[in-house]
Amino acid sequence: MAVQDPSLPLLDVRGVTVRFGGITALDGVSFAIARGAITGLIGPNGAGKTTLFNCLSRLYVPTEGSILFEGTPLEQSPAHRIAALGIGRTFQNLALFRTMSVRDNVMVGGHCRTGSGFLANALRLPAVRREEHRLSDQAERLMALLDLQDVAQRPVSDLPFGTAKRVEFARALMSEPKLLLLDEPAGGLNHEEVDGLRQLLRRIQSELRLTILLVEHHMNLVMRVSDQVVALDFGRKIADGTPAEVQAHPDVVRAYLGAEA
Ligand SMILES: Nc1ncnc2c1ncn2[C@@H]1O[C@H](COP(=O)(O)OP(=O)(O)OP(=O)(O)O)[C@@H](O)[C@H]1O
Ligand SMILES: [Mg+2]
Repeated sequence: MAVQDPSLPLLDVRGVTVRFGGITALDGVSFAIARGAITGLIGPNGAGKTTLFNCLSRLYVPTEGSILFEGTPLEQSPAHRIAALGIGRTFQNLALFRTMSVRDNVMVGGHCRTGSGFLANALRLPAVRREEHRLSDQAERLMALLDLQDVAQRPVSDLPFGTAKRVEFARALMSEPKLLLLDEPAGGLNHEEVDGLRQLLRRIQSELRLTILLVEHHMNLVMRVSDQVVALDFGRKIADGTPAEVQAHPDVVRAYLGAEA
């Protein structure tokens, strides 16, 4: 694989337009994300946030424009290669195996990183066993990082919602993403859990040198945790800058006041 110039953005969204029939869900949206940054993506209902997210995880293909990940257009990769490229995501609704243990749920996330094939697995060749060791070591590390060691053997169905959310994080991190996409991670969390989430995002960003893009309605969280905030309204980018800049931007104020009125 070609070595990337570290000064290049990790993600470069260029003039992305997505149309569904007569609806323009995204209209010429461009922005870039630096390596290691936490970027918040905000906007009122229907602004196009989920549509953009779905383009990034390759569920949708833009009608126009391009998305470069490490300099390579995402359109060139099939959807099933996205995790292997280094883009991981969590879902707005928990997508865990509820009767399985925390540990097994986390292990499932390492699947896209295993290189061995069906026959090697069936024969339990030494390389496969080494691979299993590596994955289980990594699962232990991530469970320690996310404070899940004490519940490792418990089924997910036993856990409070906030803890189950951390299991989903650990699973997404097992694929060793360079870019982690989080879809409303604060949804359903109480006040204390949101504060814990903020600290957790900072911790995984620095310890795993991760780049994070989060779609989030919880303004307090977005403004406190993000290095950069991108605001959309009716499919267009209306602001892009530091949290303070975006919060004070007249179009952002108008979009949110208008949405509340
Ligand atoms: N698959 C689809 N088919 C048709 N229209 C769609 C589709 N997905 C989204 N849209 C439309 O595109 C626009 C943007 O929707 P999107 O879901 O991206 O907004 P959002 O910013 O995620 O909103 P919310 O905050 O409510 O989740 C909306 O007008 C929506 O109705
Ligand atoms: Mg949405």
